[in-house]
Amino acid sequence: MTKPLPLRLGVNIDHVATLRNARGGQRPDPVRAALAAIEAGADGITAHLREDRRHIRDNDMARLKAAISKPLNFEMAATPDMVRIALATKPRAVCLVPERREELTTEGGLDVVGQRESLAPSIARFSDAGIRVSLFIAADPQQIEMAARLRAPVIELHTGAWCDAIEDGNTAKAASEWQRIVAGTTLANSAGLEVHAGHGLDYATAEMMAALPGIMELNIGYFMMGEALFVGLAETVRQMRAAMDRGRARLAANP
Ligand code: PXP
Repeated sequence: MTKPLPLRLGVNIDHVATLRNARGGQRPDPVRAALAAIEAGADGITAHLREDRRHIRDNDMARLKAAISKPLNFEMAATPDMVRIALATKPRAVCLVPERREELTTEGGLDVVGQRESLAPSIARFSDAGIRVSLFIAADPQQIEMAARLRAPVIELHTGAWCDAIEDGNTAKAASEWQRIVAGTTLANSAGLEVHAGHGLDYATAEMMAALPGIMELNIGYFMMGEALFVGLAETVRQMRAAMDRGRARLAANP
């Protein structure tokens, strides 16, 4: 039996900054949260520098890059300004996401088919700078195929619609969204793409994702920060790691 490849946990610390910004001071510090998450077993830190700077700020990105010992995944919209900041920050990876100022969170995947001409030069610039590019997309075959054509090494599948359907008790929608994720992962792997996933994941859905062959990284934030209020961030990271390990163990038993 071949052992499944390890599954990385990227902890998104955006909402520590949301809380800090509510009072406009220095605390709680997202860098401290990043260090605590790494200490507890996170494999990397994800942070989204939004155009409106509603949570993470430029200085947070620079401080994260300087302070953490694990890879920094810089989430961003592919605007010229953000590309410039990310190239200067030199994270291990960038994840290109769609962004609308009025949205509460990143609501849908990036339209790489529609935006292929504007995305191609950014992907090339990051690749030339040695920064891994991930495209945050829905598990849609056309988007996946275009990501591969644009030579992005990684895609991150948007799990939000699936997680929402589970939370709403809409089992039919949850089942069809899950099938889309399973088929999308297989297609992406066969096109040579590394597959990550994220948005809306909790312990149960992260465990299910971990049991899916071909998923290499989960990026999780909001649920974990909510849990951290009750059990602490370190314990939340440990519980998430344990959930992911349970999923990977199921995969090892039933490859
Ligand atoms: N991955 C990407 C690309 C995201 O935009 C987000 C949300 O910022 C996440 C993962 C994490 O989602 P959540 O905070 O719902 O766990």
